[in-house]
Amino acid sequence: MVLDFVVTKEHRRFAEFCDACRRDRYIGLCHGVPGVGKTLSARYYARWDSVENALYSYGRPSPAPLSTDPVASDPSYRTVFYTPAVANSPHVIERQVLELRLRVAHLADHAADGRQGTPTVETLLAEAVDCLPTLLIVDEADRLRMAGLEQVRDLYDRHGGGLVLIGMPGLEKRLARYPQLYSRVGFLHQFRALGPDEVRFLLEQKWQQLGLTFSPEEFTDAEALAAITRITSGNFRLLQRLLAQIDRILRINEFRTVTKEVVEAARENLVIGSL
Ligand SMILES: Nc1ncnc2c1ncn2[C@@H]1O[C@H](COP(=O)(O)OP(=O)(O)O)[C@@H](O)[C@H]1O
Ligand SMILES: [Mg+2]
Repeated sequence: MVLDFVVTKEHRRFAEFCDACRRDRYIGLCHGVPGVGKTLSARYYARWDSVENALYSYGRPSPAPLSTDPVASDPSYRTVFYTPAVANSPHVIERQVLELRLRVAHLADHAADGRQGTPTVETLLAEAVDCLPTLLIVDEADRLRMAGLEQVRDLYDRHGGGLVLIGMPGLEKRLARYPQLYSRVGFLHQFRALGPDEVRFLLEQKWQQLGLTFSPEEFTDAEALAAITRITSGNFRLLQRLLAQIDRILRINEFRTVTKEVVEAARENLVIGSL
């Protein structure tokens, strides 16, 4: 029972926050508890699944999957999504971010190759600038120590785009200790869990996919919904894992209804707390 990416209210808020950081060339801090969907939202915003694929297939005989997409004209493609390794050094961070940046620019430039006629030096130069990424998103920013943060800030200063740092709650307090960086922070964004209405909406879709009907106005469904909402507190990762267990229990027992008992049994199989 895997959910495709769902454009949630929280994702929309996150995308607006990224757009604002890009537009105003600010540093933005996004924090939220594990499992609420920060990483997935950022990857979706940057279209990183397709971009990442294309980054490393460029130059191979098969056409890059992005070649038909309006890469250069769509700003969200001009985003670098970077996850530092657990053990990181300023030098490696710099090299990796610069490489990604060049690859993304190259890709956008490649997509613009469909142009007609012979471009002049001026248009080539203008296009090269147009292709440079304008937003750097750093996921797992909690992994960066002082020197790593300095390195990222330096890249931000040099490139003049926006910067979004994603981490756990408390990241903003830690960063407040570094005035060099903190003084450039323009936006703070808390990534929240799903609200009860959204959980209900998602479950409605899910039930439908399974060929079950979901009528929250009926007692059994209302009870199951309440149990799922209570157990997951709107945490996306927990919800996914609970749904997978529910699915399993339904199949094993050939049940056609998700009851509170099924939800409770599914919960027993989860190690709640270690998300
Ligand atoms: N918008 C979404 N649509 C569908 N599934 C999602 C969405 N956001 C999160 N998930 C699910 O929740 C899990 C945790 O999300 P993730 O982005 O890794 O959380 P975080 O980075 O906040 O710890 C994902 O692996 C995915 O299964
Ligand atoms: Mg994450």
